[in-house]
Amino acid sequence: MSIKEGQIWKLARPLLEKGLNKDFVLHAQGVLAAVKLIAKEEGGDLEILIPAAILHDVGWAKVPNDNQKTKDTEKRAEGEKLHLIFGAELAGDIMQKLDYSDKAAKEVAKIIKSHMDTEPNDKNTKILIDADALSDVFRDNFYAESKA
Ligand SMILES: [Fe+2]
Ligand SMILES: [Fe+2]
Repeated sequence: MSIKEGQIWKLARPLLEKGLNKDFVLHAQGVLAAVKLIAKEEGGDLEILIPAAILHDVGWAKVPNDNQKTKDTEKRAEGEKLHLIFGAELAGDIMQKLDYSDKAAKEVAKIIKSHMDTEPNDKNTKILIDADALSDVFRDNFYAESKA
């Protein structure tokens, strides 16, 4: 793990722990593992994709509880929308705190804002969306490791 990756985790972890619907730390670990594998095959930019993977769901930290733990589909959809907006803001701030360039901070924020798009138009966003969908497969590996 690079020094920067460790620093991102340090700032992301307390935010990820506030999401109510799953273990978002474990989820982000799975997305990160998937991003690294997919980027190797498809040539995505890991300088951008590593922070994007770790930070993509930090926005849940600021979504009201009623928009997370609910069976009401409208409230839930509002929560999904909010996690994209809050996540982009929080991630942009974290990137700046860690001395990434403005360009990198903006790109990560944009990817996070778009990570539920059905037709993403850039390669890094596509890779993050695929990794997000695949993360449950990897999550099982992490559970196995943490139990061993
Ligand atoms: Fe998400
Ligand atoms: Fe996710």
